[in-house]
This record gives sequence, structure tokens and C-alpha cells, in this order.
Amino acid sequence: MDNFSVLGELTPQKFLRDYWHKRPLLIRQAIPGFKPLLSREALCEMAAQDDVESRLITHFDGTWQMQNGPLPRLPSVRKKEWTLLVQGVNLHSDAADALLQRFRFIPDARLDDLMISYATDQGGVGPHFDSYDVFLLQAHGRRRWKISAQDNLDLVEGMPLKILRNFQQEEEYILEPGDMLYLPPHYAHDGIAEGECMTYSIGFRAPPFQELGEAFLQFMADSIDLPGRYADPALTTAKHPAEISRDMISVVATELEKIRFTNDDVTIFLGQYLTEPKANVFFDAPAKPLSPAKFAQAAQKRGVRLSRKTRMLYRGRHVFVNGESFSVGADDKKLLVTMADNRGLSGPEVAMASSDVMEALTLWYEDGWIIVS
Ligand code: SIN
Ligand code: CO
Repeated sequence: MDNFSVLGELTPQKFLRDYWHKRPLLIRQAIPGFKPLLSREALCEMAAQDDVESRLITHFDGTWQMQNGPLPRLPSVRKKEWTLLVQGVNLHSDAADALLQRFRFIPDARLDDLMISYATDQGGVGPHFDSYDVFLLQAHGRRRWKISAQDNLDLVEGMPLKILRNFQQEEEYILEPGDMLYLPPHYAHDGIAEGECMTYSIGFRAPPFQELGEAFLQFMADSIDLPGRYADPALTTAKHPAEISRDMISVVATELEKIRFTNDDVTIFLGQYLTEPKANVFFDAPAKPLSPAKFAQAAQKRGVRLSRKTRMLYRGRHVFVNGESFSVGADDKKLLVTMADNRGLSGPEVAMASSDVMEALTLWYEDGWIIVS
């Protein structure tokens, strides 16, 4: 697959300035001549696996129903109005991973995954909105997208999925294979299959602040340092033995106010948080790993690449891989930055690695985080 823009005539700069988070954009033939990366059968097989997140949505006889995967049995493809959604296809298919990489004009910290939907005629997930931006690339067959900038995002209560109570269609487009629709967060939409179709959603990560806050406090629990212990040398007799004294509250408050965090704490927290693999991700360690010496030899000759499942980010002297953080010196950093940006290193680059980096690469190889090219 070529590496050209997926934005048609638009540069990524113009796209970000004029559309990102602002307004929808339809790009006809964003990927000219696009062919599905996976057959319907391959997608259905993925949905049956335990380590793949999938959902089946049916709208039989006017009733919305949802079933979470694994989905070993699916309705007949001759039956209308059902949709299979398979999340994180990029984790399991090189071609899907390569497609997601074409959206790296958006930083890795924001890029989430490639979801593939398969729908039979008239299938869809109903009128709804998502909380994050999405690119909807038509991969196979045709889909009619109805969209609306409406502010009323009230949902029908008691539904197994998010269905807008009062969807007021404003625009309508029919997408053919290779066409792509970008939608900002909270933009109402309803995609209906016109005959059997497959749509690829390139999704983004937008962690809720509440979730970030809770995770940050857990992270800080491991790093705070509050020496000493509560004491009350001036204690007086209690008139109300069950009452917590004002003095006790104030002593504890003074101590807790000593908890501080710096931008460095936030950096390490965020790097670890953003690279933490999702709960259903399992790395495939090599069945018969090469010895460290043989690995070094092979890696220096052929180079290494990150596993599709590996998340690697960096900031300043901090490098993050799959939820772990490393503080590195300037030379090691240069190499690891190259590795993160290119999702791999060439043989000559590996040959320049320090013994510390070589040791880390060996461990990452043994854990299946990186692969010899
Ligand atoms: C679909 O592909 O059917 C649903 C995608 C979406 O509306 O976000
Ligand atoms: Co949606």
C-alpha cells in the first residue's frame, strides 16, 4: 500500500486547522481503488476469538439488541439488518496496522485503533454520536451516511446501545469503496448499509479527565513520600469521645498539602498510561527465542520492528513502552526516539545501540514486544 495522504487534496495542516474537532469532511476516493484488507470470513473468524473485542448489533423486527463477543455464531448473511463490529483489528492484521499508520499525521498518543464493521443490507448501529473524532472509510459495498450538527444529544432510555431520541438528519452521503467521511466528536450520525457492506473506523483516544485523575492518583500512591506518623503531644480530655477533633483534621490536612506533583510526574504518568496495553492484549513471545548473542547478531543484520501490539512513546529523557517507563541518556534517547517514530530500527541502527539498549531490546524481543525484521 502506498504512503500517500488519505486526505485527498488537503494537507494534514489544513485538515487540522479547518476540520479537526470543527466540521465534518467527505473525501471522495481518499484511498482510490481501495480493496478490503480482510474478507468477511476472516472478520467473522476474528469475532469468535477471546482476545478480540467484538459486538453484534441486530435490528430485527424493529428491536435493537446487542451482544458482546466472542461471537462463535452469527446470523445468516442472507438476513437483513445486522452488524458485526470488530475492534482493534490493527492488533491482529499487518495490513490493518499499515492502514492505521497512514493516519499518523495525528500523534500516536491520540490514535486508538481500527474498527471494522460488517453489515448486511439495511444494517447499522442506529442514529448516535461518539465522544471522539472518527474517520469512516468505506471498504466494501455502499453505506448511506446521514449526519447532523444537532445539539440535542438526548438518548432513548433503556436501550442496549446509544440511540438518539430525536435525530434530525441535515446531510446525506452515499459512500463507495475508498470514500471517507471525517466526523468531529459529538456529531450525530447514522450509517445504513445499502446491500452488504464493510466500513473501517479509524478511532481516536480521548481519555475522560475523571479517568485520568483516578489513574493519576493511583500512580502518585506509588511515588509520594510523607515521612512521620500522626502524634498529639498536646492532647486534652475528650468531652465527646466519638467526635474527630478539629486539631486532628488540621494536622492531617497540613501533611496532605505536602503532596506535590511536577510536570515530570505528569509526563511519566501519561507515558505509562497511554502505552499501557488494553486488558485483552496478549503479546506473542517467540516460541523458540534466539539466545541473546544470536538475537544481537540477527538484529544487527536485519533490524527490528515493534510488534503491532506495542505502544511506544517518548517525551524528554523519558521513553515509554507498553506501560513501562525508562529514563535514558542523550545517546540512547536518540536511538529509542528513532525506534518509536519509525516503529523499528534498521540493522546498522541496532549496531549502534549501547549495551543498556541492547539488553532492553533483548528483553523486549523475548516478551514479544519487538520482532527481528
Ligand atoms: C459502523 O461502522 O457501522 C458504525 C461506525 C460508527 O457509526 O461510528
Ligand atoms: Co459512530
